[in-house]
Amino acid sequence: MLLAKTSRQVPPRTYNARVTHALGLDEKIKVTGGAVLNGEVGVLGAKNAVLKEMVAMLMAPGVHRLTNVPGILDVSIMGQVLDHIGASCEFEGHTLIVEVPDDLNPEAPLELVRAMRASIIVLGPLLARTGRARVAFPGGDDLGSRPIDWHLDSLRQMGAEFTLEHGVLTGRVDGRLQGAALDLEFPSVGATENTILAAVLADGETIINNAAREPEIQDLADQLNAMGARIDGAGTHTITIDGVRELHPVDHHVIGDRLEAGTYAVAGAITGGEVTVRNCDPANLRMELRKLEEAGCEVERGQDSFVIAGPKRAKAVDFATLPFPGFHTDMQPQMVALLASAEGTSIVTENLYDSRFRYIGELARMGADVTTEWQHAVVRGVPTLSGCPVLAFDIRAGAALVLAGLAADGFTTVSDVSHIDRGYEDFVGKLASLGAQIERLAG
Ligand code: EPU
Repeated sequence: MLLAKTSRQVPPRTYNARVTHALGLDEKIKVTGGAVLNGEVGVLGAKNAVLKEMVAMLMAPGVHRLTNVPGILDVSIMGQVLDHIGASCEFEGHTLIVEVPDDLNPEAPLELVRAMRASIIVLGPLLARTGRARVAFPGGDDLGSRPIDWHLDSLRQMGAEFTLEHGVLTGRVDGRLQGAALDLEFPSVGATENTILAAVLADGETIINNAAREPEIQDLADQLNAMGARIDGAGTHTITIDGVRELHPVDHHVIGDRLEAGTYAVAGAITGGEVTVRNCDPANLRMELRKLEEAGCEVERGQDSFVIAGPKRAKAVDFATLPFPGFHTDMQPQMVALLASAEGTSIVTENLYDSRFRYIGELARMGADVTTEWQHAVVRGVPTLSGCPVLAFDIRAGAALVLAGLAADGFTTVSDVSHIDRGYEDFVGKLASLGAQIERLAG
């Protein structure tokens, strides 16, 4: 079942991974394998929640605050999107203060949508607030074709009309958006969020059936409800939204990043160490932690933290990626990095993206024995990987290659690390604090 049909506190000098690579400016991470990771690491707010919560602030004029905001490249790009639309962003450590004006410029330009396709989430809010939106149409990315047809379907059913000309999607609505009963074809995270953001200021009731249930969506709904929205059922398959006339600014604390947490869990597992991960509810990583247990790890769950102890050598595990509460596609490369040197053969099925196995060619350079066929990967564990130069294609692939390097013989250099900067603040520093022999090298 392939369900899919189918780029910063942040390095100040650029925001586009492709550009840095083309100019040879991209930094590298050098990791020397063999160190056992031990200790505690804390995660920051979830990338995939904060990006939408920044956009949600556009829904109400005034001064908003988000706390627990990670210093990652994607947050910086979304800051530029907000700036283009007319809001001003100011960072004070991990707090983001955004001042939203009464009048917005309803536009997201190509360079920002190209740098980060999540920019298209402004569509619903701009239509709801201004009745119009001009957003560069996002193409595919390193993960696959990634259409936005389900976002557009929902917004159309709420009364919006769209035209696509010269690569720019123009949306307009006469008067206010109208609430509607919507059946999503697939529990798409982005389509669910765009619809919620449009519906909170629509006329009447919107029901989203087959909605995505990701914890980040619940966190977005919590922020919007605090702003005065009336959203019920976030976290379930059916979300009901009663439109309101206006919203007000609030302070909101961003939910912990389960993907950052899961990545450090694998770092402990792959080195046979014991790592405590703080600021993340383990229930939001339940399938991933269960699979790590099947692979031989011991996991102790707390309220907002967990401890993971890795085995001497992991055991093979089969898994398939699925929407929450299934195994997260954004943890697939990290898990494969672990299984690449596990005992036995694992079968991995990728159901979300059509190009998510691209990194496997890089893992093969390190000696991994993996065959991919359509959305399946057969991972035959080898005793040890062998460090070498590799390339990061996307955020999670980059993180996975660093993890593979932690357990490999010799040293591994991962290039194109701006991909990693998109989703992880101080990845190198946090791994080093756990005992990894790791450094960042200039490009
Ligand atoms: N899809 C369509 N049509 C649509 C929308 C989605 O065909 O209109 C397809 C996509 O092409 C994909 C699948 O449906 O194959 C699922 O896409 P979804 O809409 O659920 O994902 P998204 O909102 O585009 C978010 C995260 C991704 C994460 C996915 C799945 C953000 C900014 N991005 O993307 O995160 O992989 O949900 O959980 O929230 C990452 O953090 O590295 C990352 C890629």
